[in-house]
Amino acid sequence: MGGEITAVEPTQSAGLDLKIHDPVSQVPPAESGLQSARNDSARVRLYPLHNTDAAETSEMLARSADFHRDWVTYPTSLDQVAAFIARSADDGMLILGIRRPSDNILVGIVTLCRIAREPWLTAECGAAVDVRHRGKGYMAEGMRLLVRFAIDELGLHRVEALVRPENVRSAHMLTSAGFRIEGIARGAVRIQDSWVDHVRWAITAEDLAIIRRDALVEERG
Ligand SMILES: CC(C)(COP(=O)(O)OP(=O)(O)OC[C@H]1O[C@@H](n2cnc3c(N)ncnc32)[C@H](O)[C@@H]1OP(=O)(O)O)[C@@H](O)C(=O)NCCC(=O)NCCS
Repeated sequence: MGGEITAVEPTQSAGLDLKIHDPVSQVPPAESGLQSARNDSARVRLYPLHNTDAAETSEMLARSADFHRDWVTYPTSLDQVAAFIARSADDGMLILGIRRPSDNILVGIVTLCRIAREPWLTAECGAAVDVRHRGKGYMAEGMRLLVRFAIDELGLHRVEALVRPENVRSAHMLTSAGFRIEGIARGAVRIQDSWVDHVRWAITAEDLAIIRRDALVEERG
């Protein structure tokens, strides 16, 4: 794990105001409070998606659909994606676009759903890359940012992921972002009428503190 990468851009959207959830209701969507400490060496930044991102997101998801198909199901048409973004707050989901600051291109998305208030303070994450930008390390960086956002900004204690055992790319991305395997969630997700076992991954606030401490030690040589 490299040094700190924390850069979450503020949003103009009101769509993230998930008032039913304590952690998320603390997020001031239109204020700088959403912006974590900046690190200008970060290759990507996170931006909460709103309706003006629908067309770009839909194009990205449509061209990547074949690549995503075995692992995740996201909408692809403009109408479906616009509805997905518009509904996200009511569905208890945060959808964040991962953009490359050099040209502002959307290289992928990350999500947080099943956000649970005290005493759990946990959420489940998801991710999908633009097929044109796969394997460049952007998603691992985006996932690191998502974890910092969830723990530092939302005040969550854990971020979890449920991943099929054969999803090697996802496993690498999560490992790179500091997640650890906790076990198998049996029959966790229904896929084409079968209940499929998933590996349960998680990172906690304590894990993140250790990662930060180690990065600091490394920086100081
Ligand atoms: C999972 C996903 C988001 C990762 O995107 P990506 O572009 O491959 O990720 P990155 O380039 O950031 O790579 C992350 C890590 O995986 C490694 N990696 C990438 N492709 C790999 C491959 N085919 N085999 C092994 N490792 C791979 C990278 O080297 C990197 O490791 P590092 O940080 O130790 O160098 C992407 O593959 C995807 O959209 N998959 C379909 C949807 C999905 O599975 N979502 C996750 C469900 S929880």
